[in-house]
Amino acid sequence: MSHPLEQLREDALREIESESDEKSLDAVRVRYLGRNGSISAWGEKMKTLSAAERPVIGKLLNEVRNAVTAALDARSEEFRAQKESESLGRIDISLPGATGASGYSGYSEYSGFSTPLTGYSGFVPLERGSLHPLTQMLERSIEIFRRMGFALADGPDIEDEWHCFDALNTPPEHPARNEQDTFFLRDGRLLRTHTSTVQIRAMQAAPPPIRVIAPGAAYRRDELDATHSPQFHQIEGLYVDENVSVADLKGALEFFMRELFGPDTAVQFRPHFFPFTEPSLEVYVKSKALKGGEQWIEVAGSGVVHPAVFEQVNEARGDKAYDPEKWSGYAFGLGMDRLAMILFDIPDIRLFAQNDLRFLRQFA
Ligand code: DAH
Repeated sequence: MSHPLEQLREDALREIESESDEKSLDAVRVRYLGRNGSISAWGEKMKTLSAAERPVIGKLLNEVRNAVTAALDARSEEFRAQKESESLGRIDISLPGATGASGYSGYSEYSGFSTPLTGYSGFVPLERGSLHPLTQMLERSIEIFRRMGFALADGPDIEDEWHCFDALNTPPEHPARNEQDTFFLRDGRLLRTHTSTVQIRAMQAAPPPIRVIAPGAAYRRDELDATHSPQFHQIEGLYVDENVSVADLKGALEFFMRELFGPDTAVQFRPHFFPFTEPSLEVYVKSKALKGGEQWIEVAGSGVVHPAVFEQVNEARGDKAYDPEKWSGYAFGLGMDRLAMILFDIPDIRLFAQNDLRFLRQFA
């Protein structure tokens, strides 16, 4: 004779099969698996069994519970799929956007033109959108860094002075802190002047090793002209581990540039100064894809993270997680607008923000 639990399983499976909607299926679920359900009751009964019986019945109970749960889930999924295909069945997704002898004036709202399309009686195709060239640039770049194992990090555009300057070893008298160069809010906060703030936030949030990129906007009080904009975009990168050196930095950025601009791309590192890295290097590229391959073009700032930056982070964390004796790292900041301008041959940075469809459609 079969065990009552086996009988229970059989009953449950039969009922699940015979239910025809989600609601009655739920009732079955409650009847068997709910707090007072008949399968749950067996959990209580286990306590009254002999030590010899308990493991055998316990195992059976588990099997029964799993089988019933799986059957309930599968049936529920069937209902969901059925409902979805029914609702899709009523829509012909192969039809063009909107039709009608009456004309469809709603079109005018979406096209950005204010004149209604009067007297038009044919098909009105829905316009297909496309990504902004800066977004395309960003997505291409992120995809390359992801292949190198970088995760995405994020931080606010409105920052405090500590994250933007102090933590990045920038002295109080540094000109970047000046009101002429930085947008300050009345409460003393500021619009971040670079995405390097996210290096600090990432290290505050997690101990090493760490490998992140942080794409985002940055702001400086520059006069707007063909090559300067008060808002621009960067991708910050940070890699901290044991024995990270300039060689790793060069390898990563060379790989990135070649993926982006093609295998003929030459990369040059020129000594520079940033307070938050030592040594600091500016990154230049030359490639056939860029202005005929004749010019070295500056695309990034980079360097080996300054120990003073680690010390600031440790102080804020209240530990010694970023011990400069044990860990080292590189960081870089890539100018996204600059990269997009040279890659797509865009002559004027203002075009990115003017929302002129004649410009934007060229990147569709
Ligand atoms: N933040 C620098 C800038 O906006 C670029 C940069 C980023 C330089 C990270 C670095 C670095 O040395 O580690 O110009």
